[in-house]
Amino acid sequence: MGTELEHLIIDDRERGVFRVNRHVFLNQEILEQERRAIFSRCWLYAGHESELSKPGDYLTRRVGGRPLLLTRDADNTLRVFLNVCTHRGNLVCREKKGNARSFTCFYHAWAFSANGDLIGLPGEGSYTEAFDRKSMGLTPVPRFESYRGLLFVCFDPNAVDLATYLGEAARDQIDFIIDSGGTDGVEIVQGAQSYSMKANWKLLVENSIDGYHGLPTHQRFFRNYITDMGMEPVVRSVTMTNTEGISLGNGHAVTEKPKHLTALSGKEAEALAAQRAEIERKFGKERAHQIADFDRNVFIFPNLILISTWRTLRTFYPASTDFIEVDAWGLMPVGESPELRQKRFENFISFLGPAGFGTPDDVVALENCQRAFAAVNEQPWSDISRGMHREKPTHTDELQMRAFWRRWLAVMQGRSGPTNCSDRPEQTAQAEPLAMR
Ligand code: FES
Ligand SMILES: [Fe+2]
Repeated sequence: MGTELEHLIIDDRERGVFRVNRHVFLNQEILEQERRAIFSRCWLYAGHESELSKPGDYLTRRVGGRPLLLTRDADNTLRVFLNVCTHRGNLVCREKKGNARSFTCFYHAWAFSANGDLIGLPGEGSYTEAFDRKSMGLTPVPRFESYRGLLFVCFDPNAVDLATYLGEAARDQIDFIIDSGGTDGVEIVQGAQSYSMKANWKLLVENSIDGYHGLPTHQRFFRNYITDMGMEPVVRSVTMTNTEGISLGNGHAVTEKPKHLTALSGKEAEALAAQRAEIERKFGKERAHQIADFDRNVFIFPNLILISTWRTLRTFYPASTDFIEVDAWGLMPVGESPELRQKRFENFISFLGPAGFGTPDDVVALENCQRAFAAVNEQPWSDISRGMHREKPTHTDELQMRAFWRRWLAVMQGRSGPTNCSDRPEQTAQAEPLAMR
């Protein structure tokens, strides 16, 4: 597949042309290769520590196509297992989340503890001497590590450690998002948004870091809704030059722009100012400015997106070449006032999710792309060249997407070692953090 894949991306740094062949959104073999090369080998976000705060807390989730069971055991240790019974393969836990001392399989009632041990089974005496209960515990995922409360898993036992995979530049950006919560950081709030769309998963990667589409696609929100709420409409995102699109190495990327003024007043405005002051006390003026005065979309390859404006974290997986299942959560400051928390909820749901003013626009845009790709033979190329020769690409340029696609190609081709995800030719790309596997 190596050479064929190469022809699917045109990356002409000299002329400033970057194109992606739309077959990558349609082809079944490519999806299968993605399952092997990406979803079985990259570090994937599985959950957040705050979702498992007490011993016995658990949650189940599909990650990289596999059913997982995340637990905090009686000794307070976080663990991640395949949610698959070692007897005959049924799902061990059928609930989304809860607190339990043990998990009893629905099928033949084998029971497992939160640390994975098989602790009981009906009629154990009927097995032979060869039956070794100790070896029949739940299967842990090959790799499980966390970074500042974000829990990641990897199905490749030989993968580099998570910190190396993320790299310093992406870790910094995650730090900004987490430290914007103030002294106690951030937590996942109760509830989640789960939805799906008839589009290829990589279209949602592009969309999640696409500053160019914001105003045209979400006119109703940025021009009408915002005005109805008594705020100035947003009108100049595309021409803003004090914004940035940055490749962070490893395919990770960020878009950044100075924060909009908020329309809060009274108690909520005071609470927000107090939160800002607390960040400055803790981190100093300069770092506090970086943490608190920018809106950023942080993309972690291959499928995690943290969006500071809406205080959300989103991940998604392909069910097929043209169907994505999306999960999104609110990631909000710990211990903030109920009034401010309420405002954040309102802010979050007014834009995001199936009933928001924003998400349905994106769903329409991506589903219609997927529909129109039926004409791939006549019109095969998507253009992602915006800002390619700009010294400092802006958030409405497309460097962040090119970074994704460059890493995507390298991983799909099984190339190990660094990938130059920047717009600069190899020899001059030292400024970019190097990617590794
Ligand atoms: S499949 Fe789980 S007890 Fe039989
Ligand atoms: Fe959007």
